[in-house]
Amino acid sequence: MKASLIATLLFLSPVCSGQNVEFLHWWTSAGEKSALNVLEKQLAEHQIEYHPSPVIGGGGDTALTVLQARALAGNSPNMAQIEGPVIKAWDAIGVLHSLNHIADEQHWDSVLYPLAKRINKTGNGYVSMPLVLHRLNWLWVNHHLLKQLNMTVPQNWEEMLSTMEKAREAGVNPLAVGARPWQIAQLFESIMIATGGVEFYKATLVDLNPNTINSEQMRHVLKQFRRLSMLTDHPLQDIPWDKATLQLAQNKALFQIGGDWILGELLSQNIQVPDHIGCYPAPSANGSYLYNMDSLIFLKSRNFDQQKVDKVARVLSDKQFQADFNKVKGSIPVRTDIDLKDFNTCQKQSFRDYAAARQHASAIPSMTDSMAINPVAQQAINSEIYRFYRDTQVTDEDLIKRIIAIAESN
Ligand code: GAL
Repeated sequence: MKASLIATLLFLSPVCSGQNVEFLHWWTSAGEKSALNVLEKQLAEHQIEYHPSPVIGGGGDTALTVLQARALAGNSPNMAQIEGPVIKAWDAIGVLHSLNHIADEQHWDSVLYPLAKRINKTGNGYVSMPLVLHRLNWLWVNHHLLKQLNMTVPQNWEEMLSTMEKAREAGVNPLAVGARPWQIAQLFESIMIATGGVEFYKATLVDLNPNTINSEQMRHVLKQFRRLSMLTDHPLQDIPWDKATLQLAQNKALFQIGGDWILGELLSQNIQVPDHIGCYPAPSANGSYLYNMDSLIFLKSRNFDQQKVDKVARVLSDKQFQADFNKVKGSIPVRTDIDLKDFNTCQKQSFRDYAAARQHASAIPSMTDSMAINPVAQQAINSEIYRFYRDTQVTDEDLIKRIIAIAESN
């Protein structure tokens, strides 16, 4: 075979063309892997070889630590999953490729939700690509067990706690949850919003206002949270969120509280949603829509120049791909021009609820899931919330003092 033909063949192969894209992410559950298959298929169809670098750990704390370490060592992945305000910090250190060319070509300014623009643009324009919008304050209900217990879906936290008490007395695990700070902190967020309302939540966990942290309202939240902690297993099972979802799906738990990545997990297990497992706004959500958004950053890294970045970004900002990915992930698209007619009922409700929340300024960023404050303060507060939940010796005053100390050092 002529040398020129070999050279041509080598040039055309993804490896030789240098488009073997390394992607660092934390999508490691069955449902998340199903969504990743959609992404991998999209890249493969455009001759872009994909090299996954998964980091285990729901919520991404560990993945972010690995990303930071690799960037400091000058060994950044080409592409990485990321969320929220920290995107601006990565842009500020000058390690992100610009996506402005693709954003202009694909008209991102006119198709994306304003929220997606706020999170993914800086003074340099688009520095990351928004991919999914997840709602976090969902209550997932096992209808089979609820019927067996002759109960109804709790509408507020008093009903939630009394339903959980009755389930426990009947020998049913009331809440599927794992012994992980991120999971427990999400329970706290839902109670915060339910008990104090959107403005109280924002002042306390987004603005970290010491006066609202050290308030009677906060003490009321902590009393509810302590009651909840007494109703779940002690010690908690050390399981990741997706194993908790499996307990819910296998009729081993009545409820789960968490983001609609849980829907992606249930769909990947062929669970009938909403017939078997139903989705409801968390008790007393009162129209609040607690969200997080997954985005992609493209880092200045080995053999990943702007031309290759543009090719990958163009392929992943494709409208049909974004629709297909979100449908499997359990989230809703970040584009306003995608029809959800063949999405799951829960995703259609999420879409409606987000539209209503936008009208009423009740869409709020999740502090526990990287949408509100810097990662160091976030992880410190999550850990203190987790300590309070697991240890009855930790008092309201202890936790209030520690959150204020973190807020003041932030
Ligand atoms: C969130 C992320 C979701 C899902 C979840 C569980 O931070 O936005 O896509 O992966 O963690 O790991």
